[in-house]
Amino acid sequence: MPHAIAGNSYLVTGGASLIGSHLADALLAAGAREVRLLDSLALGTPDMIAHLQAEPRVRLVRGDILRLNEVIDAAQGIDGIFALAGFLTLPMAENPPLGVAVNTIGVLHTLEAARIASCRRVVFSSSVAAYGNAVAETLAEDAGTVVTGLQPVTAVYGVSKLFGEQLGRLYAQKYGVQFNALRFASVYGERQHGRAVNANFIAATYEAVRRGERPVITGDGREVHDYIHVTDVAQGCLAAMASDASGLVMNLATGRDASLTEVAHLVLAACDAPHLEPEYHEDRRAVRSAGGTHLGFSRAKAEREIGWVPKVTLEDGIRRYIRWREASGG
Ligand SMILES: NC(=O)c1ccc[n+]([C@@H]2O[C@H](COP(=O)([O-])OP(=O)(O)OC[C@H]3O[C@@H](n4cnc5c(N)ncnc54)[C@H](O)[C@@H]3O)[C@@H](O)[C@H]2O)c1
Repeated sequence: MPHAIAGNSYLVTGGASLIGSHLADALLAAGAREVRLLDSLALGTPDMIAHLQAEPRVRLVRGDILRLNEVIDAAQGIDGIFALAGFLTLPMAENPPLGVAVNTIGVLHTLEAARIASCRRVVFSSSVAAYGNAVAETLAEDAGTVVTGLQPVTAVYGVSKLFGEQLGRLYAQKYGVQFNALRFASVYGERQHGRAVNANFIAATYEAVRRGERPVITGDGREVHDYIHVTDVAQGCLAAMASDASGLVMNLATGRDASLTEVAHLVLAACDAPHLEPEYHEDRRAVRSAGGTHLGFSRAKAEREIGWVPKVTLEDGIRRYIRWREASGG
């Protein structure tokens, strides 16, 4: 029987995060009895979840997934774990030893805690970075990983996510932990931080426009990303938790390839500044994600298996992001 979110208790590792804070909102709205947010605050900050301070069903637990005992303690009495704690490519580039440890041993500890605390459900935050440079007209979950041509840190991040996926599948097979991995595309939205290499482009474009400057695009502007609004990602996490499926790896992507030029124009339109035509500069980025002029991520599997369909268009999501920036003082 599908699992009901209402009335149950959840642990979110890395809970003081962009996605964790929206996931907490979605869990509360769905009637969860308790939402425990475990975070070392290595990257996230308490202000991400400040809006939840007065909510009696939410508890922030300061803890480190690299310490097994802390994850086991946090998982006591919990019905499901959302394994979000992780280092994205930019923080991984800053601190490779810590990033690799969190994305591998940290995930191992989370699965061990699920097993030991008899918490049978785990949803893992993987990434489309796990495809690396794989190319297909439509990129589905059965595509192999291609690391050729990637920057090393981008490959290490993608491979660390692959490792988490396979470890979870192993725990599903060997210990009966119900595990599903979701490969998020480029997540953006309200409470966006500066650690996500692709979403940073939306922020940088907005900030340039606010200063009255022309936005800067690196390269010729044809590079594409699949931008997925954070509330859609949170709903996908809930759907995966509620599902009876296990051992699955699924994309949470929109399927829409948006070029940098297109995104810049969407921001310009939302800011009512169409005269600030983008400038094109040589690409000197130290850290780049995979992706050229076509990605084509399929979202068919997530729709089929867990009934997930993204709701927020890029146009609406950018307008929401800008409203949030304006409301939070810039
Ligand atoms: N944002 C994206 O575009 C995106 C895309 C694909 C996958 N993901 C994955 O989704 C997850 C959440 O992403 P986000 O953008 O919300 O990231 P984020 O950087 O906001 O959150 C990661 C959180 O993990 C916490 N953390 C780090 N090390 C920890 C440790 N040892 N113990 C406990 N907590 C620790 C950080 O303090 C932070 O709050 C990550 O695993 C990320 O790799 C994100």
